[in-house]
Order: sequence, then structure tokens, then C-alpha cells
Amino acid sequence: MSDDDRKRYWNEQYLEYWRSRVNEAGVGKSKVISGDSNTEDDSVYESVFKAYGFNAGNLLEVGCAWGRMFPIYKQFGLEITGVDISKAMIDSAKENWQGDASIQQLKESSAEALPFTDSSFDNLACLAVLDATFQNQAISEFLRVTKPGARIYFTGKNDHYYPDDLEAYNAEVGARRKSHPNFFTDTKLLIQLLKEQGHTIDQFYFFPRRGDFATFTYEETPERFYEYFLVMTRGDTYSDLPEISDAHSKTFKELNS
Ligand SMILES: C[S@@+](CC[C@H](N)C(=O)[O-])C[C@H]1O[C@@H](n2cnc3c(N)ncnc32)[C@H](O)[C@@H]1O
Repeated sequence: MSDDDRKRYWNEQYLEYWRSRVNEAGVGKSKVISGDSNTEDDSVYESVFKAYGFNAGNLLEVGCAWGRMFPIYKQFGLEITGVDISKAMIDSAKENWQGDASIQQLKESSAEALPFTDSSFDNLACLAVLDATFQNQAISEFLRVTKPGARIYFTGKNDHYYPDDLEAYNAEVGARRKSHPNFFTDTKLLIQLLKEQGHTIDQFYFFPRRGDFATFTYEETPERFYEYFLVMTRGDTYSDLPEISDAHSKTFKELNS
């Protein structure tokens, strides 16, 4: 998919779709739709931010949409910059937030080429976005634009989920059918590479099956898992990451070999 195709994909229609998914997320409601993506209640994110707090200063949110999380960041007194590849999303964020004293910048930009100088941010969050990106480029950019000691939060999909997790399998097949950008992380490799570079993994939440993220049902060392939420602290230096993701999960390949 070219950059222009990606920009066209994340359009007004997707904005309306995501708004409806976020609105239906909530305690007691089913958040798994067969063959489709699912989303989490904001309180899931808030509990992680409380457990693993922000550094004082500023925060970059990559894939910020209309600024759904900004009220949470504002509670923590952060200066907020948001970027999103989608013009529709950034226009909506500007409509909601322009003029708010906590908002520093709102920019149309892809995660893979962030328009900021090195070591600009004390915190970075990328939530429900990374699986749509070219992850080695995006995470390398996260490391470039954050300061040593910065807190970084991101979520993604693991490349090896349980073969009987049909909700996960159907979501993978459904995403491909819709040409939804969807990449699965070799999470073990990613953790190893981040540690080798001297970054600290503060917490890794592994969500064994599709739907577990929405209910915040996680394990520390499951044999396999579908989604993850990583909290890390950037080390003093970094280098660009090699390829760590694939458009097909290992589970899909095993089931179709
Ligand atoms: C599922 S929504 C999540 C939005 C928001 N983070 C949230 O949790 O509500 C995915 C968002 O990522 C954005 N996005 C997709 N690919 C991107 C990329 N390569 N760089 C930056 N943003 C991207 C989309 O435009 C969309 O706003």
C-alpha cells in the first residue's frame, strides 16, 4: 500500500466507524465482533497510565484520531502533541482541541516519518495503531523522537496466537479481505531487540485471546497470545530496528500450510 493509499484508507468513513466502536466500548458490553476489530474502554488505558506513570513534561500521541485520550493526558498535566496519518482524524482533533492550552501541535503525519527533531518528547503513546504501521520504522521513529528516560506506551498484535482462537483468526482474515493494513509483531524478537539496545521494559501485558484486552484479562508468560500492551523506558541510545512484523501471523500460516 502506498502512502497515498494509506491516507485514503483512513478517511471520514473510518472516522465514523471508529467513533461508533469507541462509543460501544464499555463495561458489560460485548466488544468482539466476528471478523472485525475490537476496542477497549478508555479506563483500560487509564489504569495502565496510573500504574506506570508519565514523566512530567510533554507527550506525543501517534495515531491520535480525534484526541480520544487527550482528557486523560490533561489530567496528568501533560503538554500534548498529536499526529495521525488521516486528514479526517486530524481535522476532527483540531475541531475538538485547537485553542486548548494543553495542546501544543496537531499534525497530519505517518508514524513512520515523524516530523520532529531527535529527543523531543518526555512521553509517547501509540494505542491501537501500531498493527497498521510498518512497525520497525514506526518504533525506530518512537525511539528517535523521545528523550533518554522517556516513557513509551504501545499496543499491537502478536504473530502467534492460539490456533483455536477463531475470533482472532476471523479478524485476521476479515482485515485482509477489507485490505485493512494489519501487521503481526514477532513480540519475542521485539522484546529481545529493545533489551539489547539498553531500553527497559517496565511492563508487558499479554492478552491471550481476542477480546481479553477489552476486559483487561492478561497473563505474564502465556504460551501464545493475541495482543500486547508494552510500557517501556527509553535507554540512552538507540539504533533502527530490523523487520519485526509480517502481514500474516504465524498461526495463519500454520493453519493454512
Ligand atoms: C483504530 S484507530 C485508533 C485511534 C486512537 N489511538 C484510539 O485509540 O482511539 C487507528 C488510528 O491510527 C491512524 N493510523 C493508521 N496508520 C497510521 C500510520 N501509519 N501513522 C499514523 N497514524 C496512523 C488512523 O488514522 C486512526 O486514527
